[in-house]
Amino acid sequence: MVLHAEHGSNASSFAARVVAGTDADLHGAITAAVAALAGPAHGGAAENVMRMAQEIGDAGKAAEYVSSKRANKEAVMGFGHRVYRAEDPRARHMRAGVEKLSREMGQPHWYKILEAVVDAMKPYARHGVNVNVDFYAGVVYFLNGIAEDLFVPIFAVGRVPGWTVQVLEQLENNILLRPLTLYNGPEPRPYVPMENR
Ligand SMILES: CC(C)(COP(=O)(O)OP(=O)(O)OC[C@H]1O[C@@H](n2cnc3c(N)ncnc32)[C@H](O)[C@@H]1OP(=O)(O)O)[C@@H](O)C(=O)NCCC(=O)NCCS
Repeated sequence: MVLHAEHGSNASSFAARVVAGTDADLHGAITAAVAALAGPAHGGAAENVMRMAQEIGDAGKAAEYVSSKRANKEAVMGFGHRVYRAEDPRARHMRAGVEKLSREMGQPHWYKILEAVVDAMKPYARHGVNVNVDFYAGVVYFLNGIAEDLFVPIFAVGRVPGWTVQVLEQLENNILLRPLTLYNGPEPRPYVPMENR
């Protein structure tokens, strides 16, 4: 929870600021943040990593799993980050936690599977695709006996302090966040009545 407490202008914190920017209340801002966090590209990745570890089932099958994902141009869950090109600095703490927990719980194979996936992903590291915090979080939740559909809520509990302080900071000098968009669609066309289409 300490590792998850705050992480700059991540998608959910930014969503909270956008809602606070309309002068909506703190509850609305946090609700928006929860919705953003649940997405598989954000906090939802942890449950997908756990599903991936279960699907791989054995460390010896990790390389084959990664090759087939890459052959289908699919993302490997728990890798990649919008900001980090090197390893997510939070990941090393989570890795140590998974190693210890899986050993203490008599289930060392989960750690072995994850490390085999990291090995198989090494060729992509030089392209800036490295392990992120969610890669280890799912297994930590799982080994603590937390049900899969509570992974995002537990992450959210950890992130509430960060969202809250960002909303309070936003409110100190609030503005409506309203980016401009650049239209690049077709030029105006004549209107064709329905019966002539
Ligand atoms: C987080 C995420 C959305 C960032 O995406 P992004 O900003 O578009 O990533 P990048 O622009 O750095 O991608 C650069 C390249 O790496 C590839 N890449 C990015 N994440 C990858 C992943 N998880 N597995 C394999 N390849 C990946 C992209 O396909 C892209 O390849 P291309 O240049 O050949 O098209 C993306 O990495 C992802 O979906 N990761 C899996 C979900 C996850 O773990 N989310 C938690 C994030 S903390």
